[in-house]
Amino acid sequence: MDHFEYRNGRLWCEGVPAEDLAARFGTPLYVYSRATLEGHYDRLAAAFADLRPLICYSIKSCSNVHVCRVLVERGAGLDAVSGGEVERARRAGCPMERVVYAGVGKTDAEIEDALCGMGSASLPAHGQAARARLAHATRIGLFNIESEPEFENIARLARERGVRCRGALRINPDVDPKTHAYTSTGRKESKFGVGIARAVRFFERYGRDEWLTLDALHLHIGSPVYETGPYVEAIRKTLGLIDDLAGRGFTVRTLDLGGGFGADYETERSPRAADYAAAIVPLLRERVAGGLSIILEPGRQISANAGVLLTKVLYVKDGGGGKRFIIGDAGMHTLIRPALYGSFHFIWPASPAGGASGGVPARRTGVPDLPGLSPCDVVGPICESADFLAKDRMLPPVSRGDVLAVFAAGAYGMSMASTYNTQPLPAEVMVEGDAARVIRRRQALDELLAPEA
Ligand code: LLP
Repeated sequence: MDHFEYRNGRLWCEGVPAEDLAARFGTPLYVYSRATLEGHYDRLAAAFADLRPLICYSIKSCSNVHVCRVLVERGAGLDAVSGGEVERARRAGCPMERVVYAGVGKTDAEIEDALCGMGSASLPAHGQAARARLAHATRIGLFNIESEPEFENIARLARERGVRCRGALRINPDVDPKTHAYTSTGRKESKFGVGIARAVRFFERYGRDEWLTLDALHLHIGSPVYETGPYVEAIRKTLGLIDDLAGRGFTVRTLDLGGGFGADYETERSPRAADYAAAIVPLLRERVAGGLSIILEPGRQISANAGVLLTKVLYVKDGGGGKRFIIGDAGMHTLIRPALYGSFHFIWPASPAGGASGGVPARRTGVPDLPGLSPCDVVGPICESADFLAKDRMLPPVSRGDVLAVFAAGAYGMSMASTYNTQPLPAEVMVEGDAARVIRRRQALDELLAPEA
């Protein structure tokens, strides 16, 4: 499902050897495959075609403007969760009506910007009509709203600025997405959205607002969600709510199903786009025929397997008892998922010993069926014991200077990277066929320190 594959014992990223990329651009390095990004987007679009959804790629999963632009050019909209991400959407060339803006803590400045366009807060007062014209060209398609005070605040700002906008109420359907507690959002104890009964009261109170039109619902139950059942349950409950609201005179025109579709951290770990669609599409086909429009907000299913992280081995330390510490230049500051969620990422040398004759497992798994492996912790340079990319992983022999590939690192890798321990942020490269270009240059130490000058 992706374009990172071993040929004759070497890892290739589309038409470029991974080791060449590491030599040319340095490490740690995030490498994305354009063909993989496009392939994943196309598969989702094809699987859900019957619903004619607007697929709003979740910027937070892999935020680089160039990654967003590839998808926007393919027809995607974007899911933003901050003023910064709304600005990324603009820079990616996304028409603002294809942007949905979620998040529990939007500030006034962020809301005004989303209503009126970047920098408009600082424009001289030039009359309501001119402002409204400007806003029409630049305002985002849908605010996803999480609470009563947030609704009141957005409605107030819209009224004060003379700009009409649309809102979706985020529903908390109280279903168990069976995922990590930190990324589970659809249970009633989470900070996200409002329950079904409260949603009815919400519409009765705000559903006829003149400035913020409330005619949509938003769901996002968690991520990654490796089963289709929780989606089915959440959608059924929400359709019941839509019918209840219709009986009270409120028409829901758009249903945003959120994201959370899984990715293959291990080979065939996740249901495919077609599997999710097989469960979801039949529930919604008739509703769509009746005029309901659908939004999806996939992040990782598009971006996770479209990226690898390349790291260079600095030292191999004997840990005693047959265990090795492989110390590389990437760690929790580069990819925090293993430290934060205990996430699994398949790791393998870009050119393993054994060369063309073998040395590469047939599947990406934690327990490869190959001779000559021994247990390793793959760790980074950070001064914390949480600084690991893998624990007790069976790996072949490696030496100082070898390049390791950390797979399925495209989602929540670079977008969650930090400068902890004053480590500059890595570079990002996009591969397109046999060409590679830098889409974010490596942060210079001077840039990191500049705000403190
Ligand atoms: N929509 C909303 C409202 C979200 O909160 C998220 C993710 C998505 C869409 C996209 O979810 P995806 O399709 O990428 O699973 N840092 C964690 C994931 C946090 C997800 C936050 N929200 C990780 O590394 O697994």
